[in-house]
Amino acid sequence: MSLADGFKDALSCWCSGVSVVTTKSTDGLMYGLTVSSFSSLSLDPPLILVCIDNRNRFPAMVEEAGGFAVSILHHEQQAASNYFARPGRLPTPDFTEIEGDWTDSGQPVVKGAMAWLACEVHQQIEAGDHTIVIGRVVETFASEGEPLLYYRRAYRSVAT
Ligand SMILES: Cc1cc2nc3c(=O)[nH]c(=O)nc-3n(C[C@H](O)[C@H](O)[C@H](O)COP(=O)(O)O)c2cc1C
Repeated sequence: MSLADGFKDALSCWCSGVSVVTTKSTDGLMYGLTVSSFSSLSLDPPLILVCIDNRNRFPAMVEEAGGFAVSILHHEQQAASNYFARPGRLPTPDFTEIEGDWTDSGQPVVKGAMAWLACEVHQQIEAGDHTIVIGRVVETFASEGEPLLYYRRAYRSVAT
């Protein structure tokens, strides 16, 4: 097995949640993509991070917009994950196929998400073929329920 295939295979053993990162440009267009590379980073100040492919428009959009949100998907939101992972989607004036909401700080979030965090852009660090987008959390929401999981290249649910 090549190093590249072994790298992907090893990482597929890391179970994660599924989130959608969203932002709204200064000219009013919103865009989001499905992301499993979400992580908490710091408590004081409250920082989180996501790692985004450099070919994606998100890092440039958030640089200009100054903020973004992370929606942590509920286990019944596979359709939202698939939609926001579809290649080639363009920014749109509002949510289209998947319903959305807007936070008090003006960030778009996925409607029905189990939790969300609205952020100001804190820092962006290019590393390899991805950019680490670090957000300073300004607003949060959380609810009960079970999260959507991603493990071994497939969606999973929590089995307790
Ligand atoms: C479960 C799952 C997790 C993903 N995690 C990431 C991620 O952490 N970072 C990333 O850049 N893309 C990730 N993707 C892929 C992007 O969602 C996808 O490449 C992107 O939406 C394509 O849009 P584009 O053609 O506009 O670049 C993930 C996809 C899925 C299904």
